[in-house]
Amino acid sequence: MRRRRAAVAAGFCASFLLGSVLNVLFAPGSEPPRPGQSPGPSPAPGPGRRGGRGELARQIRARYEEVQRYSRGGPGPGAGRPERRRLMDLAPGGPGLQRPRPPRARPLPDGAPGWPPAPGPGSPGPGPRLGCAALRNVSGAQYLGSGYTKAVYRVRLPGGAAVALKAVDFSGHDLGSCVREFGARRGCYRLAAHKLLKEMVLLERLRHPNVLQLYGYCYQDSEDIPDTLTTITELGAPVEMIQLLQTSWEDRFRICLSLGRLLHHLAHSPLGSVTLLDFRPRQFVLVDGELKVTDLDDARVEETPCTGNADCTLEFPARNFTLPCSAQGWCEAMNEKRNLYNAYRFFFTYLLPHSAPPSLRPLLDSIVNATGELSWGVDETLAQLEKVLHLYRSGKYLQNSTAGSQAEYQRLPDSTISQEDYRCWPSYHHGGCLLSVFNLAEAVDICENHAQCQAFVVTNQTTWTGRQLVFFKTGWSHVVPDPSKTTYVRVSG
Ligand SMILES: Nc1ncnc2c1ncn2[C@@H]1O[C@H](COP(=O)(O)OP(=O)(O)O)[C@@H](O)[C@H]1O
Ligand SMILES: [Mg+2]
Repeated sequence: MRRRRAAVAAGFCASFLLGSVLNVLFAPGSEPPRPGQSPGPSPAPGPGRRGGRGELARQIRARYEEVQRYSRGGPGPGAGRPERRRLMDLAPGGPGLQRPRPPRARPLPDGAPGWPPAPGPGSPGPGPRLGCAALRNVSGAQYLGSGYTKAVYRVRLPGGAAVALKAVDFSGHDLGSCVREFGARRGCYRLAAHKLLKEMVLLERLRHPNVLQLYGYCYQDSEDIPDTLTTITELGAPVEMIQLLQTSWEDRFRICLSLGRLLHHLAHSPLGSVTLLDFRPRQFVLVDGELKVTDLDDARVEETPCTGNADCTLEFPARNFTLPCSAQGWCEAMNEKRNLYNAYRFFFTYLLPHSAPPSLRPLLDSIVNATGELSWGVDETLAQLEKVLHLYRSGKYLQNSTAGSQAEYQRLPDSTISQEDYRCWPSYHHGGCLLSVFNLAEAVDICENHAQCQAFVVTNQTTWTGRQLVFFKTGWSHVVPDPSKTTYVRVSG
């Protein structure tokens, strides 16, 4: 499915897709998003359908009430939100279907309270909040991905900043299966749109460096459906596990630490302990190397009610856990532990231990084991991840691991070696061996451990932990001037 859509995006990006995406998202009464998917009039529920309109209305109401709970609940900055009016419009029995067609697109009122800042042309920073006006002259629309409910596109704003747009996927499984069941396209749109609305409310209420930033939203007519919702968010890159397995331990650790910080935040959020019922890697994106959750429509705050421990079973494909039922009749820490075990099975077990610095392995193994057994909570897990960061960043992990090399290296300031590269794994550079080091001693140590290494070049670039990037080389017959680098060549030993 993903590949098919990627192919569509590539093939039609410049012409068809740009036109159709913009049409469907921004122009009422226009073409549907992809060929062969013209919605046509909504058929009446037929005899073969399971649910009636009453059932659909019940489901919409349940979602509506959930969104209301999240936009009101807790002491966070959620009260009196600008989406409230729209939320009412989408409410079952509300004016959404009956009232006259609204104007095409209404901008978010200036100064609406509680919205996060919009991105400036380069980096995110304080700026106007984004609404429909921001979407009028976007360019370079590109399909990024879709899941069960939503389709996500990348667009460039007139100022140059690239953002992600999320909308209900008109050809998605969620809308499709609802229409098959109830035969009511607009009603089904409303049902699906409440998921997007819920996500928008949660993105806003759960703001955190590891929660995708919401920049704004726009309601506008689209196809035969009035008031479709598009959310405007920070742009990320979909998480590709295969790719992550090929990156440095330092970058993989960053993802695990991001996740630990996110889970800690979710467990102590203003709404209560939030659990992600759908926790697969595709619900996250990477923004400048940081992991951020993007899909929040399957998040849940309520803990599971119980009368005994038997009601508190956490079920996973490979194993089950039984948690205690509290005196208050709730499964204790079930939301937090569900997140934690998912973090273990989808991320930690693959990303944390492999090719880690040997002295950190015992601590990393204990994190993997404890989360796999659910013997720690989120607080302890994060404390241990932060400890790993401290040991790594401070160079303390190097103690006892550097043997003290006998080899001598000559320093050639303001110079680099062109060519004479060799490949190593996992390198920050495909064609050469580019690794991060804490200090010169670690660079020497690495060079001594690589049979091909005869020299190395210290760059002025640093990684996210502040470590310096160093090119390792097979020789030094091509030393050339470069004021931003220092070359070290092996002269004896
Ligand atoms: N901000 C974003 N930047 C880049 N890609 C994104 C972004 N948000 C989502 N995606 C991609 O789009 C896909 C669908 O988005 P998601 O919110 O998970 O929709 P659904 O609820 O349908 O699963 C994700 O799996 C992810 O790959
Ligand atoms: Mg998803």
